[in-house]
Amino acid sequence: MKAMVYDNYGSPDVLELREIEKPTPKDDEVLIKVHAASVNAIEYRFLLGTPFLARIVAGGLLKPKRKVLGVDVAGRVEAVGVNFKQFQPGDEVFGLSFINGAFAEYFCAPEAQIQMVLKPASISFEEAAAVPCSVSTALICLRDFGQIQPGQKVLINGASGAVGTFAVQIAKAYGTEVTGVCSTKNLDMVHSIGTDRVIDYTQENFAQNEGHYDLIYDAVRKRSFSDCRRALSPQGTYVTTAWSPLLALQEKWISMTGSQKMVPMNPMDRPDEKDMLELKELLETGKVTPYIDRRYTLSELPEALRHYGTGHARGKIVITI
Ligand SMILES: NC(=O)c1ccc[n+]([C@@H]2O[C@H](COP(=O)([O-])OP(=O)(O)OC[C@H]3O[C@@H](n4cnc5c(N)ncnc54)[C@H](OP(=O)(O)O)[C@@H]3O)[C@@H](O)[C@H]2O)c1
Repeated sequence: MKAMVYDNYGSPDVLELREIEKPTPKDDEVLIKVHAASVNAIEYRFLLGTPFLARIVAGGLLKPKRKVLGVDVAGRVEAVGVNFKQFQPGDEVFGLSFINGAFAEYFCAPEAQIQMVLKPASISFEEAAAVPCSVSTALICLRDFGQIQPGQKVLINGASGAVGTFAVQIAKAYGTEVTGVCSTKNLDMVHSIGTDRVIDYTQENFAQNEGHYDLIYDAVRKRSFSDCRRALSPQGTYVTTAWSPLLALQEKWISMTGSQKMVPMNPMDRPDEKDMLELKELLETGKVTPYIDRRYTLSELPEALRHYGTGHARGKIVITI
């Protein structure tokens, strides 16, 4: 089968389209014919091998252990091992792989290393592949860390990005009043996905809207808690996709010393089955629709990752296989 393989950490140029052996599922494994995958921060970091923590998580300090990247998978089940119970051959599925491997014609993994559900018939493989990692990130950040409540005033910083476009739609689905922050060229797009108000960060500093927001979600890690605290209501919460030991200490300090909260996203938080079912329902009911920026073929993956690496993609980048 064809797969995009890398032997060394580096720029997207280190990726090569190669013919590798098609896997045969072991007793507890599923083999999926991949129809689409998508690009996320995690693959980009695993490719570069930076920060160094990415190498620890990827399991190879000097060279990558898993040579095929790709966390989001959408495809058709080709075969299952005798102990794999969740799906049958022929099922159309989508979800997350905790061990990468989706940038290939076939993906094979044990049940314990994936979080997948049946794909709704109304959703294409490309749309399904755009969803798992980014939507689960936005969902966990808003629902669990942000404790989002109907009627709140919510601000999403980076509303035009992969996580941000979903965060806007999830916040609307939870019945909140949503302000999205993006640059001039994305104002129309961010408005079209359902924001009540859009702020152009090149023209206005949202952090000066004193005491205004119950929840600020920095989906692109561009504004710190100190930056945003003035714009939060007295009991307001700031959530960020960033995490570091220093931020974890800051979280504790702020919760002990004030009425506002700041919550960094723990990178080890993984979506569970309940999250996948909520995500599937958001898609089925049309409350969340992926905004696909660009589509690339498998061999164009380096170009797709270069585009992601600019930090200025709009919505999701999908790989059609
Ligand atoms: N993708 C995932 O599933 C995932 C999962 C877990 C964690 N994360 C983390 O979440 C963060 C965001 O990831 P992502 O994939 O959503 O990023 P992304 O798609 O690369 O974000 C790009 C967007 O950010 C906007 N942006 C850039 N600078 C900005 C600024 N100063 N203020 C507001 N918006 C700005 C860009 O708009 P302009 O071009 O208009 O500037 C662009 O639309 C990353 O730190 C990542 O590590 C992502």
